[in-house]
Amino acid sequence: MKIAIDGPAGAGKSTVAKAVAQKLNLNYLDTGAMYRAAAYAMLKRGIEPSDRTAVLSALPSLSMEIVYDAGSQKVIADGEDVTPFIRTARISKGASDIAVIPEVRLKLVDLQRNAAQHYDIVMDGRDIGTYVLPDADIKFFITASPRERARRRFLELKETVPEADIDEIERDIIARDKTDSTREFAPLRQAEDAILVDTTDMNREQVIDFVSGLIAEKKRR
Ligand code: DC
Repeated sequence: MKIAIDGPAGAGKSTVAKAVAQKLNLNYLDTGAMYRAAAYAMLKRGIEPSDRTAVLSALPSLSMEIVYDAGSQKVIADGEDVTPFIRTARISKGASDIAVIPEVRLKLVDLQRNAAQHYDIVMDGRDIGTYVLPDADIKFFITASPRERARRRFLELKETVPEADIDEIERDIIARDKTDSTREFAPLRQAEDAILVDTTDMNREQVIDFVSGLIAEKKRR
């Protein structure tokens, strides 16, 4: 079974996708982590993710591998486990910038489709239902208002980043939505056959129950 979960930054896609995968005993692939890892690897080489020419010349030598360790996903880029370093604001912006470049997308989409060929999978991203797995068995588009997405991110960050500012987080989220949904190649868009889940007024458990309930129903049919 192939399950596609798309939506904008900070809507809680990965939390839901991970929980649903665990509940239904399916593999989980966080494709955003792959764009983040690509941005990280370029920055490490001294290349700005928005510098298309430089990215294109480095791309053939970029290696990426997804490994699973005790059920959690690790991304190995250029031989380094970059998983702990890719959740910063700098990398979020870099990932959104590098994701505009079609050649980068094609390289990562190949790896994603390859994973889906071999396993039953829950995949989350921006273009899974529209481009990566157009024939997925079930598709979800998970969203929430920008303010609510900023509030959730703020609560997450507050402990470790005392200077976190909710207005600044909201501005970053809106800017990233814009880059992701206005790029020419495979933009962020709800697939016509995707189920829209607006989580603005839902908590984590409600979203997980709703999504896994629909998947279980689909499986029975
Ligand atoms: O889901 P995320 O925040 O980890 O994704 C980081 C960036 O990667 C996001 O701003 C856009 C890009 N991305 C993409 O273009 N396509 C995907 N399937 C997943 C992520």
